[in-house]
Amino acid sequence: MTTKISFILNGDRISYEIKDHWTLLHLIREEMGLIGTKEGCGNGECGACTVIVDKLAVNSCLYLAADVDGKTVDTIEGLAATDGTLHPLQQSFVDNGGIQCGFCSPGMIMSSKALLDTTPDATEDQVKHALAGNICRCTGYVQILESVEAAKKHMSGGGQS
Ligand code: FES
Ligand code: FES
Repeated sequence: MTTKISFILNGDRISYEIKDHWTLLHLIREEMGLIGTKEGCGNGECGACTVIVDKLAVNSCLYLAADVDGKTVDTIEGLAATDGTLHPLQQSFVDNGGIQCGFCSPGMIMSSKALLDTTPDATEDQVKHALAGNICRCTGYVQILESVEAAKKHMSGGGQS
């Protein structure tokens, strides 16, 4: 069966005919070609597929595409400014060695963004909790935490959010 859904994707209103069994990950990555969102485990254990739905970080591999009807979805592709300027979190991951192979990075950044958008003064423990579901197989966790901390300081200083 198919269903027509309508939602906001990275700031644009989208209407799309979906199959009812599609996950959100399948819709954005395989159907829409937004391959910044990664598929790791496919069963909710690695966080590589993290996107933001209505301000909450979710594992898109476990989220039915049908359930975003009427909602707002943000993926890593929507973070940079239209002139190409990276979001402070993206820039901070680049500047602070938070990216090695980069496979986990979109998920790490989206989980961090969901936290900092709602809790701009998040503590280190809150950052660790927000990233608890994101696995880095390159094990660069120290640099990832440093990247989030540096971005937090930049963003609280009046930068882009
Ligand atoms: S691919 Fe979704 S949690 Fe691993
Ligand atoms: S940078 Fe390689 S998986 Fe995290």
